[in-house]
Amino acid sequence: MKTYRIAVLPGDGIGPEIMQEAKKVLAVVAERSGVRFVLEEGLVGGAGYDAYGTPLPDEVMKMAAASDAVLLGAVGGPKWEPLDYSLRPERGLLGLRSGLGLFANLRPVVVFDDLIAASPLKPSVVRGIDLLIIRELLGDAYFGKPRGVRGEKGQRVGINTIVYTEAEIRRIAKVAFDIARTRCRKLLSVDKANVLETTELWRDVVTEVGRDYPDVDLQHMYVDNCAMQLIRNPGQFDVIVTTNMFGDILSDEASMLTGSLGMLPSASLGEKVAMYEPSHGSAPDIAGKGIANPLATILSAAMMLRHSFGMADEAAAVEKAVRAVLADGARTEDIRQEGARIVGTIQMGDLVAERVRAFKA
Ligand code: IPM
Ligand code: MG
Repeated sequence: MKTYRIAVLPGDGIGPEIMQEAKKVLAVVAERSGVRFVLEEGLVGGAGYDAYGTPLPDEVMKMAAASDAVLLGAVGGPKWEPLDYSLRPERGLLGLRSGLGLFANLRPVVVFDDLIAASPLKPSVVRGIDLLIIRELLGDAYFGKPRGVRGEKGQRVGINTIVYTEAEIRRIAKVAFDIARTRCRKLLSVDKANVLETTELWRDVVTEVGRDYPDVDLQHMYVDNCAMQLIRNPGQFDVIVTTNMFGDILSDEASMLTGSLGMLPSASLGEKVAMYEPSHGSAPDIAGKGIANPLATILSAAMMLRHSFGMADEAAAVEKAVRAVLADGARTEDIRQEGARIVGTIQMGDLVAERVRAFKA
């Protein structure tokens, strides 16, 4: 029997609740498809700190590295904010990214027809939106050195360094072109080449890589313009590739086209093990209430099936199940709508699992 080992890292806040529902759906997929998923759980983020004094315990890092894929809930919360920077939950996430070499972060932004009213933008602007942000995940100011705050001539000075090597740009560009080839053969590279030398290099290298992909239409855009265009006319975009920092910001902005961050999955790919997680945070304000939306985590599990296990049909079944449940009028609080049936986290998971079970394998 085909067996996949999944490192399951629920994390903090609503993480454990939404992870439970993704596990429920994976169990149905296993039943249908005859594969075996071996789930190994680990504590990361604030939960890791509380249990082991570190947001990324060595054991968890080892387990993740030895797995076939990592499924993560969310990390962080006010409880851990007073901690030293090096011990905060977010360091656990960044440690996993760098430890696993996850340099390509895929953030699909899809507007579901049934949720169009949830978007703060006009239906005519967001209908049919299906774009993909590919964010470089290991470079830029996130990891650049020197960094820190130090005293200089009687005052504090904060320093971060934006740095990209040619090799780092080339490898993310290749991923982006390869993916663009499987979609509309259009790639937009976003930079700030009019001001930042690092992204002047970014633009040059992406253009060079593009010579190997004559069938893909490559365009460039400055990040400020892109931020504006995402609201004005998001339908013009298909695949966007950009730097770590710009990708962080643009993906949060783009998520609002869909109306709820609770719907967006993500995949982080590297050389070997990939990691899948919802794009949203740990939502400590609603943790434990049973009202969190598990769909982004369930859709992240679908991305895992597709990208890590080559189970495209099963991934499509999960995605189709999510659409069907929404079409039936079930909604969690965050996507509440006039006339819709409000369901809790567990019920939403049950509904999706039932649908997946009902589809023919
Ligand atoms: C994200 C988050 C993280 C990031 C934080 C939690 C470190 O905002 O995944 O977009 O900035 O990368
Ligand atoms: Mg972010």
